[in-house]
Amino acid sequence: MRNDDRIDLYEGDITSLDVDVIINAANNSLLGGGGVDGAIHRMAGPELLAECRTLGGCVTGEAKITKGYNLKARYIIHTVGPVWRGGENRESERLKNCYKRCFELIKKNNLKNAAFPAISTGVYGFPKNLAARIAVQETQQALDGNPELEKIIFTCFNPESKKAYEVALSQN
Ligand code: APR
Repeated sequence: MRNDDRIDLYEGDITSLDVDVIINAANNSLLGGGGVDGAIHRMAGPELLAECRTLGGCVTGEAKITKGYNLKARYIIHTVGPVWRGGENRESERLKNCYKRCFELIKKNNLKNAAFPAISTGVYGFPKNLAARIAVQETQQALDGNPELEKIIFTCFNPESKKAYEVALSQN
């Protein structure tokens, strides 16, 4: 299938999606927070926090996988995006690494479909258009390298994010 057929945009709450795995935009502690992190922990329930406590945190640009617990998604991949500090602090490289590590875990666990939030573009302040370009480029590369991967869903929680993904997808 062409890559474009394997990428969808979804406007809404990532915790409602019935997919193999949803990606969490976490922080280095992996112990929950606000934004999508807060929503995922609220919906997954306290067992998620209990498992996260065993993981010893996560460095920026890396990713770790847990069960999905009360979510419809079977798994959650927690990744820690960079805080935007103006663009001179390897932020783009670190955000690319988040996607690369997530796709490595998706492949390693033979997962067929996944939903991503707009990592780092909320509290962490990463510019939405640049983040969307990175997300789309890394996803196209992952799809090229993994014919087993059937569907990647970019979840948009606000109109600006949706527009950013639409522009990034149209340019690819
Ligand atoms: N479903 C999908 N997307 C969501 C949801 C949700 N339920 N809630 C928020 N979002 C969107 C935000 O609108 C934003 O577009 O997820 C994107 C990422 O924003 P944040 O959740 O703020 O994540 P990030 O910018 O990576 O900052 C991470 O925020 O919540 C804390 O613990 C987290 O410290 C970490 C930091």
